[in-house]
Amino acid sequence: MNAPFNSRTSTRHPFAAYVCDDVSAELLKPLVFELGWPPESVNRGGLRGAIQALSVSASPTILFVDLADTADPLNDVSALAEVCEPGTVVIAAGTVNDVRLYRELLNSGIQDYLLKPFTADQVRDSLAQAQMMLMGARPIDPADDHIHLMTAVIGVRGGIGASSIAASLAWLMGENGGHRTALLDLDVHFGTGALALDLEPGRGLTDAIDNPSRIDGLFLERALVRANDKLSVLSAEAPINAPILTDGAAYFQLQEEMKSAFECTVVDVPRHMMVQHPHLFHDVQSIVLVVDLTLAATRDTIRILAWLRNNAPQAGILIVANRIHPSLTEIGRKDFESSIERPIDFVLPYDLKQVVNAAKLGKSIAEAAKTAKIGQTLAQISRKLLQLVADDPASEGSHKASLLDELLTVFKSKSKIARK
Ligand SMILES: Nc1ncnc2c1ncn2[C@@H]1O[C@H](COP(=O)(O)OP(=O)(O)O)[C@@H](O)[C@H]1O
Ligand SMILES: [Mg+2]
Repeated sequence: MNAPFNSRTSTRHPFAAYVCDDVSAELLKPLVFELGWPPESVNRGGLRGAIQALSVSASPTILFVDLADTADPLNDVSALAEVCEPGTVVIAAGTVNDVRLYRELLNSGIQDYLLKPFTADQVRDSLAQAQMMLMGARPIDPADDHIHLMTAVIGVRGGIGASSIAASLAWLMGENGGHRTALLDLDVHFGTGALALDLEPGRGLTDAIDNPSRIDGLFLERALVRANDKLSVLSAEAPINAPILTDGAAYFQLQEEMKSAFECTVVDVPRHMMVQHPHLFHDVQSIVLVVDLTLAATRDTIRILAWLRNNAPQAGILIVANRIHPSLTEIGRKDFESSIERPIDFVLPYDLKQVVNAAKLGKSIAEAAKTAKIGQTLAQISRKLLQLVADDPASEGSHKASLLDELLTVFKSKSKIARK
């Protein structure tokens, strides 16, 4: 026994289930068999049975556990975490239909929660997802060239609403676009990505920065905080008594892993990060540049556009003017556009009422103000971005090319003018 870790993992089974009733057991057995696992891996005993079994034997790679017979699921799940080896993907089922419990279970590292009675299809989906997670969340069909849209959102000035827009776009890509989406908030000390969605940021991002070599699909699964079914968030509130020491390797690694684990990634990039970590932009397909109609924004939009031409020539750029009040702008729209030598693509109104309401509800502006002008314009922006990776086979190629071309043509023709 000189290699305790190896000896344990070598006896690790791919799957085990601990359910509370015969109906669940009978439903699971054929599904488990379909996946090539022995039907005997479906046991009775529920959560207590799982804790007993795992305290004396190796944990399976995927664990299905029925919480129906526990009165305090959260507490008992943490007892399970103590005996369960890292790397196990846990799927829970239970009779409590409460979104708070659901969220807390996901936050505690549970991969999925199925409400009982569950159907065969629900279990199949959940097991497929667990397997995807274990494979770094790549889609099962290797021929299916999994889409990925990486969008960076940058505010040309602080306080301009870039983080609000990033959270909104991420929510929309998940909710309206139906894509598995991650929001990566790189404002490590003062991030608002989690706050905007009423979540605790957790330690994921700071852990990632401290140990870039540990970042893999599994790490992501544990580090990300789930906002809903489609949206996960990696954000931080790092202590403000110490600087972040990093060469940026962690950011790069996070982007790489997110590319394979998600369909859309929205990166909220504080503008000072551009200066320090230009490689963050090497792989993004689209950039949302948030501006306002002020003198300072005009100057910095010109400078940032020039910088992007050199550092992200592959990316399509959308200029979004935010917090715009018709009578309260320093500079007229036309003057702004002629100074930056390209049009503003979208204008979001200054709308304190909707913003305050969103903050009260703990939702993104896009969700809370769905029917207001601001919400509808945000939805248009996300649709425009998603056209970049439109997965409708009929539009494959032509559609993709046309939008990217459109965005790039505007950008390049302007860059020629600017270079003259
Ligand atoms: N369209 C808008 N109308 C009114 N207030 C807004 C609007 N967009 C954002 N805000 C508010 O502006 C403040 C700064 O937003 P934030 O997203 O944190 O900006 P940034 O990330 O650019 O610093 C927040 O209080 C936010 O609620
Ligand atoms: Mg911000």
